[in-house]
Amino acid sequence: RITPIILAGGSGTRLWPMSRSSRPKQFLPLMGAHSLFQVTLLRLAGDPRYGAPIVVTNSDYRFLVAEQAQDVGVAPDAIILEPVARNTAPAIAAAVAVVARGDAGRIVHVLPSDHLITVDDKYRAALDAAETAALAGALVTFGITPTEPATGFGYIEAGSENAAGGHKINRFVEKPDAERAAEMIAAGHYFWNSGMFVFAAQTLLDEAQALAPEILDAAQKAVAAAQTDLDFLRLDPDAFAAAPDISIDYAIFEKTTCGVVVPAAIAWSDLGSWDAVWKAGDHDSAGNVAQGPVTLRNVTSSLAVSEKLHVVIEGLSDIAVLASEDAVFVGRLSDAQAVGAVVRDLKADP
Ligand code: GDD
Ligand code: MG
Repeated sequence: RITPIILAGGSGTRLWPMSRSSRPKQFLPLMGAHSLFQVTLLRLAGDPRYGAPIVVTNSDYRFLVAEQAQDVGVAPDAIILEPVARNTAPAIAAAVAVVARGDAGRIVHVLPSDHLITVDDKYRAALDAAETAALAGALVTFGITPTEPATGFGYIEAGSENAAGGHKINRFVEKPDAERAAEMIAAGHYFWNSGMFVFAAQTLLDEAQALAPEILDAAQKAVAAAQTDLDFLRLDPDAFAAAPDISIDYAIFEKTTCGVVVPAAIAWSDLGSWDAVWKAGDHDSAGNVAQGPVTLRNVTSSLAVSEKLHVVIEGLSDIAVLASEDAVFVGRLSDAQAVGAVVRDLKADP
């Protein structure tokens, strides 16, 4: 069976003020009763092809992970704790090293915990194709057909097709600027990187050894010296801190020659920013998405979310109003990506 590795250690700054460093976006009930992390657990639990998941998260979120997993009746195989945030490459390398201790040939499926995905026949067909390619030694990602020149995603140029329907990755460009993104969309044979990966544990270890040996070294030492604490596996702090801070996309996927992209016509959204939440939400006839105690009058194409305060908006368009218990953000919905920069400024000058 496939072992899911769920990444749940990001900080989600573009969803401020709801997403906070003490409770980042993946643990918030953004789209209903369950958090995106719980939605991810439930999606896997309903599919017999997956074994129990391994969760990798920051030590600060250990109780959120344990409680939210228990709340939906899922018992992770392991909850691996990072002592410091080093981005996804070291986190994935450590989780894969844990899997490889048991079975290096094991196929793993790395999943972010900030996605909304509908599991249907297309999803299952894509997973089959990915598993076939992974068994043949590929590092596989799912490719999403781009709809706009977004700058928040990795772009993949697809090459020759294999028997299972995957394509060799000719080029992988992580988060291009707007101009390059537009060029790649115009060229036509590019996909967005879904950020969901499938590979054999050993393939990742071999590629990390060749392309990013300092990451592999730090991850393997951190696993070898890890401490078991209740239900948690605490990576060794000194060993893990020696890893560079880099994502799997830059560290491995931009460089590997074993990359395969499996096109996946799935309903997929990365709920990374407020405009994505608006797009994925239930719209009223004026194109508004409202959650919580919110009253809208003569408002169009806007997003209003309130946790507690009664928010009333009159006569505006393209507005985002986000009211958490202790902070309110007001801005243009179409500039929602700017929230990340706002939070950086607040941190620099509180
Ligand atoms: N454990 C752990 N530790 N998880 C982390 C860390 C970390 O240090 N940093 C981020 N994550 C988790 C996040 O919580 C999220 O679930 C996942 O890893 C991906 O991180 P994001 O920060 O959301 O990445 P992104 O959306 O900017 O970019 C990635 O995903 C895109 C698609 O959604 C890249 O893979 C892009 O190429 C891709 O297009
Ligand atoms: Mg993301």
